[in-house]
Amino acid sequence: MVHFYVLTLFPDMVMDGLNTSVIGRAIQNGIIDIEAVNIRDYTTNKHKKVDDYPYGGGAGMVMQAQPIYDAYMSIVNRIGKRPRTIYLTPQGSVFKQSLAKEFALEEDLIFLCGHYEGVDERVLEEIVTDYVSIGDYVLTGGELPAMVMVDAISRMVPGVLTNQESGETESFYNYLLEYPQYSRPEEWNGKKVPQVLLSGHHKNIAAWRLEQSIERTKEHRPDLYEKYLEQED
Ligand code: ADE
Repeated sequence: MVHFYVLTLFPDMVMDGLNTSVIGRAIQNGIIDIEAVNIRDYTTNKHKKVDDYPYGGGAGMVMQAQPIYDAYMSIVNRIGKRPRTIYLTPQGSVFKQSLAKEFALEEDLIFLCGHYEGVDERVLEEIVTDYVSIGDYVLTGGELPAMVMVDAISRMVPGVLTNQESGETESFYNYLLEYPQYSRPEEWNGKKVPQVLLSGHHKNIAAWRLEQSIERTKEHRPDLYEKYLEQED
């Protein structure tokens, strides 16, 4: 069981996004649970403000320390420990499958979603254990990255995927991209399913798929292909 806590100004966005399909089913089955905590509920400001101008000037607003810290402490006091706490930021280290597997071993994880121009550095220093980016592009807030991470981590939690959906033969397992898949009909739009897949010859099928995976990886992800070769040695 992994408990995910998401500190956010947009709790509905997070819950609506994660309550369907495989992750929704895992929540229903009690294998994971996700709680979105509204940072605004914890502000002591009488106008419910959670941000202010940056010291030193500059564009945009900065999320203040107090509401974030109090929202965080409400979780810490409830569960009686300070779990790993992830701040979603393009300044972080890039999220990878290996990190998803590592996080899937935790009992509790807190995600902090920033907005506006940033978050007061002092609260980050106080609560954050991991700075994580989901890629080299800039989003308007940390909610989508948090949802991406919750999804990727959840599917590594035992019982979330069925045997059929199981992760082990997928992309990144051994640094290769997935081979192409086909389903009925045998011919669609003038295109035929590769003959070998209809042959029933399992060894040939496996060999063909591996070759396809290698070709795709060479072509689209030469960086991954290098790792594949190193690991084969
Ligand atoms: N916040 C804004 N952009 C982001 C990104 N690429 N990864 C994580 N958090 C972000």
